[in-house]
Amino acid sequence: MPEDAADAALRADVREGLTGSPRTLPPKWFYDARGSELFEEITALPEYYPTRAEREILRTRAGEIAAASGARTLVELGSGSSEKTRHLIDALTGLHAYVPVDVSESALALAGRALAAERPGLEVHALIADFTALPALPDTPGPRLVAFLGGTVGNLLPAERAAFLASVRALLAPGDALLLGTDLVKDERVLVRAYDDAAGVTAAFNKNVLTVINRELGADFDPDAFDHVALWDARHEWIEMRLRSRTAQTVKIPSLELAVDFAAGEELRTEVSAKFRRDGVRAELTAAGLEPVRWWTDGEGRFALSLSVAR
Ligand code: SAH
Ligand code: AVI
Repeated sequence: MPEDAADAALRADVREGLTGSPRTLPPKWFYDARGSELFEEITALPEYYPTRAEREILRTRAGEIAAASGARTLVELGSGSSEKTRHLIDALTGLHAYVPVDVSESALALAGRALAAERPGLEVHALIADFTALPALPDTPGPRLVAFLGGTVGNLLPAERAAFLASVRALLAPGDALLLGTDLVKDERVLVRAYDDAAGVTAAFNKNVLTVINRELGADFDPDAFDHVALWDARHEWIEMRLRSRTAQTVKIPSLELAVDFAAGEELRTEVSAKFRRDGVRAELTAAGLEPVRWWTDGEGRFALSLSVAR
């Protein structure tokens, strides 16, 4: 992704999101170097179970996943630190190339260098790209396994998810597969705690988007003038993160020639994190032209990995 393309996308998203009603921002702008670090801190929090639950599935099922896919190329969307992925890389004995795709250049650089050093025989082709506008993949040997872990698919809205899954399907050849991580619907208190931790790391992650906009667009957001909010939307079955303005205030964004008025208590939605049920995941995969073939959960049934194939 050329830097000017990222800049144009940020400008368009901020203008559209902050002038609309309700105000929203897309979650991909959390992930500058600081945001990626904060996300890694979140994954170690006692309240944030998804990473541990998914790691348990990968640790115990990587052999089955590898046998079912036989992949020679592993593409990972929203790869972040690629930490859990090592279970898959180790299990895929015929693996030739690893293609991590992420908008966070810092996360890709750290993970890509570490992996290339740890596994000298593996080709690592890191791609800075938006996974909702997937570029052509490098010409590496098939079959391909596309992994989309962490439950990040839940950060897309339903219509975005449908378009995204169809775009992944379009990249696959017959015999290729998608490994999808989805967080599951569970007790509301467990969910809300996972997004409103006692140490305030998720609050700092949430507010980091304001710092990104300040730095990139010269805005004057005061992160301390907003409160972190995490709530469960039972109708949509998703967690919503918001930033609530503590007072009536005007934020200036000079590079967009924009001034945004926030009323006291007005909220800005920064993320949805959808939680899934098995039937819903199956229906969405099937609608995208994929055939779900395997479903695994952790021992406590908190998180699922599904494997689907392209016919
Ligand atoms: N897969 C890792 C990281 C999850 S965090 C894990 O399971 O722990 C989400 C990751 O997706 C971040 O690294 C973020 O930079 C990346 N990301 C978010 N939106 C993106 C987008 N639209 N395109 C590409 N990467 C994106
Ligand atoms: C990356 N994604 C799956 C995380 C989630 O749980 O929705 C992002 C996150 N937001 C707050 N905490 C973690």
